[in-house]
Amino acid sequence: MTETEPYELRVDGVARKVATSGQGASLATVLRDSLDLPGTKIGCGTGRCGTCAVLLDDVLVASCTVLAADTAGCEVTTVAGLGTASAPGPVQRALVEAGAVQCGYCTPGMVVAITDLLARIPQPTEVEVRFALSGNLCRCTGYGRIIAAVLALAQEYA
Ligand code: FES
Ligand code: FES
Repeated sequence: MTETEPYELRVDGVARKVATSGQGASLATVLRDSLDLPGTKIGCGTGRCGTCAVLLDDVLVASCTVLAADTAGCEVTTVAGLGTASAPGPVQRALVEAGAVQCGYCTPGMVVAITDLLARIPQPTEVEVRFALSGNLCRCTGYGRIIAAVLALAQEYA
């Protein structure tokens, strides 16, 4: 594996230096393996499941499809920046309260995608929620409780 030049980016509001990233490493891999942020999951690794979702300069992306070195100077928001187990953010709380977390593997990507949705459309319809989450696969919940959680959270903000 060839090493790239060191580069910096901001992750969850903190400046981080990536000293040695494998040539061609994805942002998802660098977040997990170089920056010790395992909250961002890798499922398919090919941009199809959404579990690796992050915000890159406030744009929702599948971090497994982003070349990490291309994010130099960018601002990345991961699920870890949106709340923790001891201090959950509003989306995480809403998902838990709705019983929308089972195995939890899809949850980090759902949290980021829902955060993105509510920032763009604070009062989404069910159709808009389903469309916004259409790139996030969940094997467990059947989506009903996830969608209910989003709609309930939006109601809190109404
Ligand atoms: S791991 Fe990135 S979209 Fe599936
Ligand atoms: S809760 Fe298991 S994949 Fe969604």
